[in-house]
Amino acid sequence: MTDFNAVAASWDDDPAKVLRARQVAEAVRAAAQLTPATSVLEYGCGTGLLGLSLAPHVARVTLADSSDGMLEVLGRKLAGGAAPNARALKLDLTHQPLPPDRYDLVCSLMTLHHVHDLDRVLPLLRAALVPGGTLCVADLDAEDGSFHGPGAGVHHGFDRAALGARLRAAGFGEPAFSTVHQIERVVDGATRRFDVFLAVARAA
Ligand SMILES: C[S@@+](CC[C@H](N)C(=O)[O-])C[C@H]1O[C@@H](n2cnc3c(N)ncnc32)[C@H](O)[C@@H]1O
Repeated sequence: MTDFNAVAASWDDDPAKVLRARQVAEAVRAAAQLTPATSVLEYGCGTGLLGLSLAPHVARVTLADSSDGMLEVLGRKLAGGAAPNARALKLDLTHQPLPPDRYDLVCSLMTLHHVHDLDRVLPLLRAALVPGGTLCVADLDAEDGSFHGPGAGVHHGFDRAALGARLRAAGFGEPAFSTVHQIERVVDGATRRFDVFLAVARAA
């Protein structure tokens, strides 16, 4: 398992992660028809790279994560005035209940492959949306496990059709998938490219 507390302080030092979040934010903006009235929940926000990119275009953003280290880095950004309409929230839906607020958009980036109990969490993300609200999930396409390496204990990306079926079972309409980014990683001395999809689904 990745120790996100240990990597939080240097997370934003990687320009590839910053670029990834920027590209995904553009794709989310294109897909989700954001307005100055839109409320957003980012689940698994890390240091807030995605949600803080969306914040200037919406009414309010809740940035949720289970890692104290990530939330500490994010908290420093918010204290420095990064986004007056954003707030941080410690939240792990694998064992906590859903807070009462409801959102027009729920988004996540590179988080769901770390969430084992997706069949518990996906319906909660659906329940976090207002009727007709939008889910935007960006994550790895199915891969052979080399993205994290042996023993990482994560999902090896997601098969689009299989994830689509899980989303429908969780109460979403038919998701639309597109490829929005590629991550380059050196695996066994060779550069590999891993596709990142964006799945967009409405709360049915
Ligand atoms: C690969 S990082 C991505 C962070 C951020 N979205 C980004 O793209 O820079 C995955 C994030 O998901 C968070 N996370 C993992 N499992 C989680 C869970 N069950 N509930 C909430 N957050 C979780 C981690 O703490 C971490 O910040």
